[in-house]
Amino acid sequence: MMAEPYRIKVIEPLQVLSRQEREKKIRQAHYNVFNVRSQDIYIDLLSDSGTGAMSQDQWAGIMLGDEAYANCRNFQNLEKAVNKIFGFKYFMPTHQGRAAENVLFSSIIKPGMVVPNNMHFDTTRANIIANGGIAMNFPCKEASRPFKNLPFKGNMGTKALRAFMSKNHEKVPLVMMTVTNNGGGGQPVSIKNIREAGRIAHEFGKPFFIDACRYAENSYFIKQREPGYKNKSPAEIAKEMFSYADGCTFSAKKDAIVNIGGILAMNSRSLFEKCRDRLILMEGFSTYGGLAGRDLEAMARGLFEGLDEAYLESRTGQTAYLASGLKEAGIPVVWPPGGHAVYIEAKSLFPQIPQGEFPAQALVIELYREAGIRSVEIGSIMFAEPDEHGKIHYPKLELTRLAIPRRVYTNSHMDVVIEAHKKILERKEKIRGYKIVKGEGPMRHFIAWLAPVK
Ligand code: F0G
Repeated sequence: MMAEPYRIKVIEPLQVLSRQEREKKIRQAHYNVFNVRSQDIYIDLLSDSGTGAMSQDQWAGIMLGDEAYANCRNFQNLEKAVNKIFGFKYFMPTHQGRAAENVLFSSIIKPGMVVPNNMHFDTTRANIIANGGIAMNFPCKEASRPFKNLPFKGNMGTKALRAFMSKNHEKVPLVMMTVTNNGGGGQPVSIKNIREAGRIAHEFGKPFFIDACRYAENSYFIKQREPGYKNKSPAEIAKEMFSYADGCTFSAKKDAIVNIGGILAMNSRSLFEKCRDRLILMEGFSTYGGLAGRDLEAMARGLFEGLDEAYLESRTGQTAYLASGLKEAGIPVVWPPGGHAVYIEAKSLFPQIPQGEFPAQALVIELYREAGIRSVEIGSIMFAEPDEHGKIHYPKLELTRLAIPRRVYTNSHMDVVIEAHKKILERKEKIRGYKIVKGEGPMRHFIAWLAPVK
């Protein structure tokens, strides 16, 4: 296994609170870890978004920020990077991924329209709903088999997509594909599946967009797992992936290893003009999109670093290290591990907790109690939805996600996480569920207050 292809120059001290203090903090946070203060956390695996450590080259770039209002040098540098890596004709920076989503969807969705995706992540789904649309998922069959060892469980169910498109294409403004599939265990999507989904969209005359947050990690998995790609670089694979699409939304907070930033890119001139007008209204002029010049520079440089093969090897190696350690300890880990996070299937871990009492959230809370670890629920708090008759539909997978920030933690931290799980396993039968006492809607996972079920 590749050790980190860098060494540590700057450190940020951490403190560990006592168990008693942690008990108090989680209660005061109403059992929602979004409310816990950062300084009260030991190992923060809430998100891999905007939490990465920038390189010396990125920090040096920050000092070269050109803060002119229009067409600054850093925009030009970013343009060169985006043209080289993504290869779409037009692009605009945005302050993060969801801003790109909102600019795109508010330009293209009319009320009642349906956007298919292999799996929408939370903000994507919410931005579609907020613009009057319906977000539909078409995961492949293997996506709901968390422990089956298959290479591309992030794939789109293309048969179901084709069947849906042949009946409903008039209602579809665009088809999307999320790489890697964050809602579904961080699993990658194969080039073959991307090509096929693009072909289906085009057959019905619809644009095909990639939600490209973790495109570099996805490219690395293609290199490792898809026949014919072993000798290609992640950059070459990414270029091919994007060649099947008409555009992308991108949160640079992931694979461009910056703390803030995003991109919206496309080939259509008329769509670009529409989006640009929305961008100027919502984000800022089209050469800065809600960011400072220095942020654009860090993004331009980070884009290349995120594609570096040695980095991707150590990155995915660390995720696999954590996943293997947990699996050996007897934790039901989604397998194979994804790129940016390890996912635990909490229904199998806590069979005594019904899905309506949020087993994945129960693990999130236990991890904080046990060792000051912050993880996130990707289960029924995030995705359960009532239908028009008020019946609640639960997601197939009830996941707790341990998202690993890029270049931040060492494998010793991962060992602490593994040990904490072993301790929780010892008392797993005693763990109970939670109920929501305040906060509803598609963003309730961020804001809800919870209480233990008696
Ligand atoms: N799409 C996917 C697949 C994502 O994972 C995210 C963010 C976004 C879009 C939105 O990007 O945060 O820059 O606005 N996911 C983060 C996470 C928040 O923790 O998984 P953003």
